[in-house]
Amino acid sequence: MAEALPPRLRLLQMGTGYWVSQAIYVAAKWKLADHVKAGVRKAEDLAAKTGAQPRPLYRLMRALASVEIFAEEADGGFALTPLAELLVDELGSMRAPALMMGDEHYASWGQLEHSVRTGKPAFDHIYGKPVFQYLGEQPEQAKIFDAAMTGIHGPETPAMVDAYDFTGIQTLVDVGGGNGTLLSAVLRKYPAMKGILFDLPQVVERAAGVLRDQGVADRVRCEPGNFYETTASGGDAYMMRHILHDWTDDQCATILGHVRKAIPKTGRLLAIECVIQPGNAPGWGKFLDLNMLVIPGGQERTEAEFRTLFEKAGFRLEKIVPTRTEVSVLEARPV
Ligand SMILES: C[S@@+](CC[C@H](N)C(=O)[O-])C[C@H]1O[C@@H](n2cnc3c(N)ncnc32)[C@H](O)[C@@H]1O
Repeated sequence: MAEALPPRLRLLQMGTGYWVSQAIYVAAKWKLADHVKAGVRKAEDLAAKTGAQPRPLYRLMRALASVEIFAEEADGGFALTPLAELLVDELGSMRAPALMMGDEHYASWGQLEHSVRTGKPAFDHIYGKPVFQYLGEQPEQAKIFDAAMTGIHGPETPAMVDAYDFTGIQTLVDVGGGNGTLLSAVLRKYPAMKGILFDLPQVVERAAGVLRDQGVADRVRCEPGNFYETTASGGDAYMMRHILHDWTDDQCATILGHVRKAIPKTGRLLAIECVIQPGNAPGWGKFLDLNMLVIPGGQERTEAEFRTLFEKAGFRLEKIVPTRTEVSVLEARPV
């Protein structure tokens, strides 16, 4: 639809994108989709539930309905739409991403200029510390971050498990594996495979419930640690999804260096990332790249950049397996 708009309106729509994103954030924060789902449909009742003013809340709902998030009905009540359903509070939904993006990410993007000028993350500029240190000190925000990773990257999981053949791997280490949903999905497809979930201590602690719910807890060893200092030993394959994009080339060299020491000669390194394509074609990775600049201080990479990154750490990029989502599986072998 945007394509059909005249250029002036297209630019205006792009420039006011934050109107929509902040409206989504407030809806997510106040669990408006959950309330509507539970039958609280009128603005005055929603206002009573959330402590808001009825008329402004009505205006928020009306604006959201104009972009197909909720629908106003003849009696003035609101109903869920397919987009609003995605904001219901459950694991894998888009509520946690909306919370993460509308809060610290939104504040950091407000300082994009700082990041482009200095090359440094605006997040650190605003919050006074790097994002993963911040999350280590803010357990509630950290839970939202873990859930946001599942919400954003969840659809990548079945896509990569379908596209990439994990056959032959006996013990798969998920480096920076977060809440364990990805490792669980691979292990469920390969019943003889064992897994090691490696992440910061407070993160692996939070993963126990997911591993149990997914029925793989007896095949997974959780190993707390810092990938700047070490990595888990004992794997014949090391998987890293959306890890390398968080960091600079030098930082990646340290992380990959530990993996290189631990991995057997016949092992595989699997990096799951967006691969930036040349030219002007649109791609989620091109703006995700800016998000990496602003939040953790990392970057998305082209195929050539991945090749160089791996070579410097003692790996050779063997193949890139695309998936039906934005990410590809980059398979590298030790040299
Ligand atoms: C972008 S998230 C990706 C999570 C998961 N791999 C996924 O695809 O959903 C980055 C992960 O790196 C972990 N991490 C950050 N710094 C770390 C460190 N120094 N040592 C180990 N893990 C770390 C975070 O806790 C987080 O789970």
